[in-house]
This record gives sequence, C-alpha cells and structure tokens, in this order.
Amino acid sequence: MIAAREVVVATGNPGKLVEIREILGEGAFTLCSLDRFPEIRMPEEGDDYTENAALKARFVAKATGRPAVGDDSGIEVDALGGRPGPHSARYGGEGLDDAGRVAKLLGELRDVAPAARGARFVCVAALATPDGEVEVARGECPGVILSAPRGASGFGYDPVFQPEGFDVSMAELSAETKNRISHRGRAFVALRDAIARAAAR
Ligand code: IMP
Repeated sequence: MIAAREVVVATGNPGKLVEIREILGEGAFTLCSLDRFPEIRMPEEGDDYTENAALKARFVAKATGRPAVGDDSGIEVDALGGRPGPHSARYGGEGLDDAGRVAKLLGELRDVAPAARGARFVCVAALATPDGEVEVARGECPGVILSAPRGASGFGYDPVFQPEGFDVSMAELSAETKNRISHRGRAFVALRDAIARAAAR
C-alpha cells in the first residue's frame, strides 16, 4: 500500500533515483521507486525520448494508482551523427556495463580531434497521473567528450563528459553542481510544481 502524497519514480536505475530525489527534494511529496513494485515489468523502449518517458510514467501511474514520474535520457555525440541518443543505455550491446560503454565510445572517437568532440546529454521527464494525464519537460546539457575517463561520481558516461563552462568531467563535480546544470536537473525542476500539485490531489 502506498501513502498519500507519494510519487512513484518509474526507474530501476539506482543512480537516476538518487539524482531525482536530490533534484526534487521531498517537501510536498515523497518519492518511492519501482523496488516497491517487483511485479511491475516496464514496457520496451523505442527511439524517441518523449514517447519513452511518457510511456514509462503512464504505465507506472496506471499500475500503482499514484502519480508517477519517468525519464528518458541519453548522450548525443556530434561526431557520431547524434548516436547513441535514446539508445545510450544499450550502446555496444546488452553485455556491456558503464565502463564497457565508455570504452567503446572512446574507441569510436579515437581519431576525432578535440574541436570535433562536441556532445550533449538530453533528458525528457514526464509526469503521469492515474487518470492518464501526462506533462513533459526537456532538459539539455552541452559539452565535449574527453579522451580518457576522469572522476568517480555520477554514473554512465559522466567520467568522459566535460560540461560547457567547466574544466573537469561531470564525474568530478559535486552532486549539487551536477544537478544544477544537468539535463535531468533542468527537466525535473521544470516539472516540480506540477508533481507537487499531482501528489496533493
Ligand atoms: P535511460 O534513460 O534509462 O534509457 O538510460 C539512458 C542512459 O544514458 C543511461 O543508462 C546512461 O548510460 C546515459 N545517461 C543518461 N543520463 C546520464 C547522466 O546523467 N550521466 C551519465 N550517463 C547518463
């Protein structure tokens, strides 16, 4: 049973849940994750951030009877024509972990000069209510891909992404700074008031 004012985060990724908690705070509502609902099997994802985020949020709101937030995110690398984009979690195949995906990306960019290593993180966050209403917000964080991993914070591609205006990697920033400038921070902050209103209904 979930308490009133609880909002379910439609993710199985612990790194994302931690970040979304830190970004949104938990004043007007509390966040719980899909760990509470082991019976929920998330639907397969497609090629579009907005469709994927809305699909996850709508599916979980319907299954739990509570408002749910979901996100879909990825890294778009200019020298790869925007790849891996919405496929970032599966880049290189299911067998790879974060370190393996980072190594594959660095391998693909081995001969790409520093000036051509532009990239951006993209996130679309979605809020869905149990009656099927959906609201979405998009956030982006531009930067470049480094030539070697740096830092130990964050997750995913953070060690090889240097955000614009910084001379360190995303994995060398404090959580507070990452959340202030990140794609996910920007998208979820834009949805915060709507999430508080949905939680209070
Ligand atoms: P999805 O949104 O669950 O499909 O996963 C997106 C994938 O993009 C993650 O598994 C990471 O590999 C990558 N990604 C998304 N956001 C970040 C971030 O903030 N830092 C590092 N990698 C990220």
